[in-house]
Amino acid sequence: MKYKACLFDLDGVLVDTAVYHFQAWKILGKHFNFELSHEQNEELKGISRVESLDKILHWAHFQATQDQKGRWLKEKNETYLELISHMNPSEILPGVISFLDQLKEQGYLIALGSASKNAGIILEKTGLTNWFNAIIDGNVVTKSKPNPEVFLKGAEALGCPATACIVFEDAQAGIDAAKAGGMKVVGVGSPTILRGADKVISSFTELQVSELLLL
Ligand code: BG6
Ligand code: MG
Repeated sequence: MKYKACLFDLDGVLVDTAVYHFQAWKILGKHFNFELSHEQNEELKGISRVESLDKILHWAHFQATQDQKGRWLKEKNETYLELISHMNPSEILPGVISFLDQLKEQGYLIALGSASKNAGIILEKTGLTNWFNAIIDGNVVTKSKPNPEVFLKGAEALGCPATACIVFEDAQAGIDAAKAGGMKVVGVGSPTILRGADKVISSFTELQVSELLLL
């Protein structure tokens, strides 16, 4: 088999949690009179919580103390946890389960490669945990996407060389990370926004596992 493993980002690829991150950051922004736009939210995809706050404070032209930053990171996550506490399997994006099913049937290994420290909770709530042979999330990586660490750790955990891995990503930082790791990458989203992917799909309903061999 040309490829042995598929590595999935979580937020925006398997489930649509971007809306919850957006809401939680918007609520936090009230502390410093900042209204996050949809375009700015796009730039927060794939990057860590700490880096997201730094970007937001920069956009808001707000000089925060370390103490404020610590409190706000905690507060943002508490709001986010509250928002995701109601998540269930209906929030898995269209076509995902059928695609994972095909992968398993055809003997591919499956890993998660997410920047989120909340990945475990989201996988549990949506019933996705058991699909994964390895889970690499924000609790085990030290360098954020576009650094390839998260995907290289995923490939290592699966025992696969990078060249035998295909990454699925909705964020530009994630596509850049996969490429930096020497992997093939399928972008999930709009081809006008995502650059450098080997293929872009708008949804998993458009993709058959057999098409991966064309990458
Ligand atoms: C990524 C999201 O998957 O995880 C980012 O795309 C988010 O928007 C990052 O900031 C970190 O998530 P968390 O759950 O650890 O705050
Ligand atoms: Mg994502």
